[in-house]
Amino acid sequence: MPARAISLEQQQQLIEIVRDAAKTEILPRFRNLSEEAIRAKSAPDDLVTDADQGAERMMTAAIRELLPEATVIGEEAVADGSANLDDIAGAELALIIDPVDGTWNFARGLNQFGVILAATSFGETIFGLLYDPMADDWIVARHGEGAWFGRPDGTQRRLQVSDTDKFDEMVGSTSIRLFPKPQQYQLAATFPDFQRMMAFGCACHEYRTMAFGFVDFMLTGKLMPWDHAAGLMIHAEAGGYSALLDGTPYRPTIHQGTVLAASSRAHWEQLREKFSFLV
Ligand code: IPD
Ligand code: CA
Ligand code: CA
Repeated sequence: MPARAISLEQQQQLIEIVRDAAKTEILPRFRNLSEEAIRAKSAPDDLVTDADQGAERMMTAAIRELLPEATVIGEEAVADGSANLDDIAGAELALIIDPVDGTWNFARGLNQFGVILAATSFGETIFGLLYDPMADDWIVARHGEGAWFGRPDGTQRRLQVSDTDKFDEMVGSTSIRLFPKPQQYQLAATFPDFQRMMAFGCACHEYRTMAFGFVDFMLTGKLMPWDHAAGLMIHAEAGGYSALLDGTPYRPTIHQGTVLAASSRAHWEQLREKFSFLV
């Protein structure tokens, strides 16, 4: 058992913190960003906007007030050197923030973006939240309690991943650009074997669509914890199975490798075989 848990009351407060930041710092800037408000980080297509930085600042302050003992690790704070990824492993409670996931989409006026929040205890994910600011709804999970879709009117629904059996009926999602060039060609050559392959450009919506049972599997070649810790825990709570391609269980302290998420262990094994050239 992890050393810490997030209570139902704290979960509700965290949802409100995320909703507030989206309303105040993200949505007013959607399709309303000047050129100077969009900046490149590690590469020309790795973007940060005033919305990302404003939302992270607001959520960090609110989380510090709610959970003063927590170590807060924001994506943009790590980028500017004011937070350290390595602190996740030893923290009894860490809150990991992706203030705008899908910034490339957001900066282009595409509405597939989200806010992701994960809580970890000694490097194990104990809570995950995938928030859609456009619809003002969320998927949330606490360790061992299932994955739940929620709305501001109090509607709640327990989620379950898909049970599609055959490759040619499966829908998958991946960002092919996250793999080395030679593997991109090999990976692209597998696409016609599936019903459909998606590239959402937004981990938040990749995991949401899997938890809703609309997408059957996901492959990712980049493992930053703000992108994947919450989503993979929610996926597991919705009945899914995931691991690195070499079989290692995912942990938010692992930042290298390829994760495959599927709707069951059996489907994971079949898909792992198909993508064995990536190992
Ligand atoms: C990105 C998105 C995208 C994924 C990239 C991430 P960001 O997050 O989740 O889907 O392919 O690896 O960096 O930078 O928009 O928060
Ligand atoms: Ca992200
Ligand atoms: Ca981000």
